[in-house]
Amino acid sequence: MAGITRRAAAAGLAAAGCAPAGRVPAQTGDGPGLRVLARARGAVFGTAIRAVQLREDAALRALVAREAELLVPEWETKWDTLQPQEGRFDFSGLQDIVNHAAAANQRLRGHTLVWHEAMPPWLAPALAEGPARAQRLLEEHCRVVLGTTVTVIRDWDVVNEPIANPPGADHPAPGPGDLRDTPWRRALGPDYVELALRIARQQDCTLRLTVNDYGVEADTPWAADKRARLLRLCRRLLERGAPLDAIGIQAHLQMRHPFRAEPFIAFLQELRGMGLALAVTEMDVREPDALAPTLEARDEAVAAFTETFLRAALEGGVRSFLVWGLSDRDSWLVSMPGVRRWDGVATRGHPFDEQLRPKPMRAAFARAFG
Ligand code: XIL
Repeated sequence: MAGITRRAAAAGLAAAGCAPAGRVPAQTGDGPGLRVLARARGAVFGTAIRAVQLREDAALRALVAREAELLVPEWETKWDTLQPQEGRFDFSGLQDIVNHAAAANQRLRGHTLVWHEAMPPWLAPALAEGPARAQRLLEEHCRVVLGTTVTVIRDWDVVNEPIANPPGADHPAPGPGDLRDTPWRRALGPDYVELALRIARQQDCTLRLTVNDYGVEADTPWAADKRARLLRLCRRLLERGAPLDAIGIQAHLQMRHPFRAEPFIAFLQELRGMGLALAVTEMDVREPDALAPTLEARDEAVAAFTETFLRAALEGGVRSFLVWGLSDRDSWLVSMPGVRRWDGVATRGHPFDEQLRPKPMRAAFARAFG
């Protein structure tokens, strides 16, 4: 499998005849992009992106280049995209993203090597054949994927969402114990997170290896329980010498749940105390059930919630902030069943609106970084 390299990427961009970056919407003004403001704060700002968006949406492409220093493929580094059939790998979507990132001097992070979603149809049955087959599949996936991306991705979500959702959470998931019941856990046992980290480390000793999860932000009993579960997993992994470098906090925030800085900062500081780096990896904001009467009021409320969270995360030691999309355009918050609003209203949970105009939420990022 030929490796993906940024030099090839730059050539690829020219070869692809990619139109010059589109015009950045004038409304963004000519002030510094969030990537610049974040750097001035000693932080990094980025966004999830899809290859098709970069290929087909010149205005979004230009905005992403201006605002983001770090990109995470929303789809292109997941199993169902990378290995749709056993032994057949497809890096074409990732190559597109790498090409554009090279032109915009952006870095990438990988998401994700082990997850119970985005599994191609062949994978769960194969995992169920037993631990030896499951381990060989994971080892081969990591060998090919980490080997192919070695020059362009240096930071991976190795395991995504391993913690079981406690009772009371949106989608309570049975354990047993702290870990979610998934095809990976059933195939490889309760130490599968440690095994996945060791396999990734064995493939590339310079990678930053992250465990990424959600639902650990709010000031609710179940979020507190999930924080405790994640802390127990981290302690157990580190006590066993597992190569865990960082924790990703997805931060799919929901305004219907209260947020209080103190418990969240204490949680982050406890993770930092274990020597772990911290990243906000997928931030977006779902508005409360009862919406304010005007778009302006709604956007101001989202911005205030955003700024409170960002300031707490910064105080807790987070220095990498990714949103799960810069714009309300194409957001999973609007399209995803079980995530989109029951009343059909399109939630406004990203820094830019559908027309790529900056919203108060972007100003909240600027203030928090500023
Ligand atoms: C989501 C994507 O945004 C959707 O387009 C896709 O259909 C499902 O996955 N947590 C994660 C992300 O770790 O990978 C998910 O992304 C959102 C929740």
